[in-house]
Amino acid sequence: MCTQAQAADEGPALLKGKCMGCHIHEGGDSYSRISHQRKTPEGWLMSIARMQVMHGLSISDDDRRTLVKYLADKQGLAPSETDGVRYAMERRLNTVEHFDEQLTQMCGRCHSGARVALQRRPAKEWEHLVNFHLGQWPSLEYQAQSRDRDWLELALTQMVPELAKRFPLEDQAWADWQKARPKAQALPGQWSFSGHMLAKGDVRGVMTVSADSGDTFKVEVQGQYADGTPFTGSGSAILYNGYEWRGNVKVGDTPMRQIFAALNGEMKGRMFEAEHDERGLDFSAAKDGNARLLSVQPAFLKAGGEAELTLVGSGLSGTPEFGPGVEVVKVLEVTPRQVRVKVKAAADAAVGTRAVALGALKGVDLAVYKDIAEVKVVPAFSIARVGENGGSTPKVQGRFEAEAWGKDAAGQPYRIGYLPATWSVAPFDERAEEDQDVKFAGQMQKDGVFVPGAAGPNPERRMMTNNAGNLKVIAQLEEGGQKGEGHLIVTVQRWNNPPLP
Ligand code: HEC
Ligand code: HEC
Repeated sequence: MCTQAQAADEGPALLKGKCMGCHIHEGGDSYSRISHQRKTPEGWLMSIARMQVMHGLSISDDDRRTLVKYLADKQGLAPSETDGVRYAMERRLNTVEHFDEQLTQMCGRCHSGARVALQRRPAKEWEHLVNFHLGQWPSLEYQAQSRDRDWLELALTQMVPELAKRFPLEDQAWADWQKARPKAQALPGQWSFSGHMLAKGDVRGVMTVSADSGDTFKVEVQGQYADGTPFTGSGSAILYNGYEWRGNVKVGDTPMRQIFAALNGEMKGRMFEAEHDERGLDFSAAKDGNARLLSVQPAFLKAGGEAELTLVGSGLSGTPEFGPGVEVVKVLEVTPRQVRVKVKAAADAAVGTRAVALGALKGVDLAVYKDIAEVKVVPAFSIARVGENGGSTPKVQGRFEAEAWGKDAAGQPYRIGYLPATWSVAPFDERAEEDQDVKFAGQMQKDGVFVPGAAGPNPERRMMTNNAGNLKVIAQLEEGGQKGEGHLIVTVQRWNNPPLP
């Protein structure tokens, strides 16, 4: 793996040796195009990979890793510049984006809007980018949401100035970050973590980070899902730009990736299976030595009921307080990373969300509920993909949970949490009914996991079409029987699967 010292050492020589043939040297370590953009490690990897695929650059995997490290450190993004668009790096591919209409139509129709928002350039570079798009994909102008307008004219005269203003090369956040960027040496140690995987449940445990050379680390995780499944494994990680943590950790037999922002003694992000990025967990961790409350598992409690709750964090001690009407009946375990208690909620405990306190620690909520006002299927809209059947791409599953919502005394909706449900699918519309999508598109399992059908044409279907489908996902709560609905599209394989969608 490439270390920081190595990258800082070899980066300039690699730029000179590998890139100068086509990019004009502008003095020092500066080259045309390359030195006038900032982006994420994934963004740099994609640019260099394009140089290989489209322009015939030849570079070894090792040298490419070194260059990505060098460029991502030198020309990265400040943490605040990635706010709200980290889902693209975290590969949350079911995210429904909310950019303005123009950016969505002009730029966000072939790839995510986040791919745009995760770059910083001056006007000249946004302009080169527009020209490169049309030069590389001339048919762009004839496609839907282009042929109805003068795409190039709009891109150059409206998008370029707008992008240069919204996503400029130079700004205060980046200037400040370069001065404040923490050292990788702050990361080794024990981290208490908390997570949740859809259709699997909560997980918690300890992640041990030890220093390897430079900005690389050895990683061990040791934990457990709420259902008892172990979550144990080891691997390695690298830190880019002072906070972009990228890990490869094998949990059991399954290689998983970690995409975290490591900031102020916390790591936050997503950990997912390398071969199935739809199987991932929301992850947060706090380092020993600073007192933090990460979560309470589970984060809901029924009025009149009893439950075991676990507070997860670092530097924990004492007995938690859950507010009026919720009493700690018994303290089961207190360690710096976990406080396990048995609690009882009075039948008349106020329903709604309340803050949990452990000494001076706050930041975690508990929902107390009585009645369920609404059930939402999470994700509300998602995409599964057919696969296998002799093909090279695995099936992409749908994974669902039933999110219960209540109404508090003021009539305000509040999130209760994920409750057990039974699962089924139904045709989304008449067309789906006629084409028997429910029969062909795949199978909804008991646990809220939808396994799509096999890839390729299906002789049993009308016109021998493939196993695509348009489905309603229906959750029915085990307790109370209320229902919620989501929308699932089952479609073809994702042939083009770059690091940033
Ligand atoms: C064989 C010629 C060639 C080599 C070698 C080459 N590039 Fe490029 N590069 C191009 C061309 C042509 C473009 C403009 C079209 C494009 O963006 O694909 C470009 C554009 C770029 C851009 C701007 C992309 C954008 O989105 O605006 C970056 C960044 C870049 N190159 C990085 C590199 C790096 C780093 C290297 C060395 C590892 C390198 N290139 C080597 C030909 C080359
Ligand atoms: C016709 C489809 C299409 C449209 C429309 C489109 N893009 Fe792209 N864009 C692509 C493809 C394909 C790539 C190349 C991915 C790769 O590197 O392999 C790309 C790459 C990019 C990159 C990464 C380039 C790099 O090397 O860093 C950015 C940034 C980007 N597009 C921004 C935009 C913006 C801004 C617009 C609107 C003005 C836009 N795109 C419109 C298809 C499109």
